[in-house]
Amino acid sequence: MEKITITGGQPLQGAIPCSGSKNAALALLPAALLCTGETVLENVPHIGDTSTMEQLLSALGVRAQLLPSRDMFVDATRIETYDAPYELVKKMRASFCVAGPLLARLGRTRVPLPGGCDIGARSVDYHIKGMEALGAQVRIEHGYVEAQARRLRGANILLDTPSVGATCHILTMACLAEGKTVIQNAAEEPEVADLAAYLNAMGAVVRGAGTGTLEVEGVETMRGTRYRVIPDRMEVGTFAIAAAATLGDVRIVGCIPEHVTALLLKLREAGIAVDEGPDWIRVSAQAHPRPVSVKTLPYPGFPTDMQQPITSLLTICSGTSIITETIYERRFKHVDELRQMGADIKQEGQSAIINGVFRLTGARVAASDLRAGAALLIAGLMAHGTTEITGVEHIERGYEGIAAKFTQLGATVGCFDE
Ligand code: UD1
Repeated sequence: MEKITITGGQPLQGAIPCSGSKNAALALLPAALLCTGETVLENVPHIGDTSTMEQLLSALGVRAQLLPSRDMFVDATRIETYDAPYELVKKMRASFCVAGPLLARLGRTRVPLPGGCDIGARSVDYHIKGMEALGAQVRIEHGYVEAQARRLRGANILLDTPSVGATCHILTMACLAEGKTVIQNAAEEPEVADLAAYLNAMGAVVRGAGTGTLEVEGVETMRGTRYRVIPDRMEVGTFAIAAAATLGDVRIVGCIPEHVTALLLKLREAGIAVDEGPDWIRVSAQAHPRPVSVKTLPYPGFPTDMQQPITSLLTICSGTSIITETIYERRFKHVDELRQMGADIKQEGQSAIINGVFRLTGARVAASDLRAGAALLIAGLMAHGTTEITGVEHIERGYEGIAAKFTQLGATVGCFDE
């Protein structure tokens, strides 16, 4: 798809189901390399990133297939190569996380340094330190990470910051290491807890999921299993913000409200009505939001992935809002585009100062990364007139059928190939 056009100003109304979590699926799929026998992951979303992961697993000689039912079959009984192809790993940062399982299973791996959304430095130094701590010899040459270890050994590892990717990656390697591994200052994100539950279902012994200290007792082998991926809290958050931003009334079903607590608290602080049940959330708004301050932090703090979408909502707040981004240094590329739509936003260092305006107006804008794309979709739904969004490939990487879902809620959205 080349571009999306939105004719805005329509309040979103109705109910919408949420898809499986992109980030959880991207953590669980490389972990399927740890076991022999067939794994079936249910609720894997049909998005660009899961298709890239399917291609990557297939390129390693593993049987991997994502079905229309959203069941993804992986059978890594045989892995043909420890060498991950450059063009797939460059597409997506999460691809790098096949390195650890390959190392744990085959004693060797060769994986290019990763790509992904251009939102900041995004080094992989913690991943590499983790491999070394577990006894691997690691070399970086010609843009590739090469690691070797006859058998990984358990270790005590302290992460300097609670990186989601590094926590997941080290966790997978530790499962087949000899002895006990302790990861301190581990990420507490629900996607890490989901990975730990999946690993345990495959025969691993992981304790402390969802806390800052993870303990792993290494095992000799792991077996395939059937496991359901958690709902996507970022998609839930995107719909919740879009509902508020269009002064709509939307019920998001099949979600885990607890995973979006920080966002829901912020929406309530902004004067938006939020109801929740065991697996649904209803967001409705009659008036522009009150101004709020938002600071991104690791879970359970306000997620960096919702920073760009909530900026769109706050462009029409009744006063001045301040957003501070503490995780990534370049996650403000949506701001220029929102200004083209009439937003009054000043960027000062790692903060965006938003003076609320009466309304946004449609314009031609470009999505620079996945969540910037979500921010522009929301802005387009809010704006008077038509908005044309290019850079749609970034949005397609992470949102399943987003245009159809907004249409289902009453929005006027068109998708075009040129
Ligand atoms: C994951 C999510 C992404 C989310 C991010 C933070 C996936 C596929 N992506 O990305 O949507 O925005 O968590 O919640 O799950 N860092 C280092 N060295 C490392 C690793 C990370 O310095 O080796 C830094 C990063 O540059 C960043 C911070 O740590 O500043 C957090 O990154 P991390 O939690 O690792 O993000 P990802 O796992 O890449």
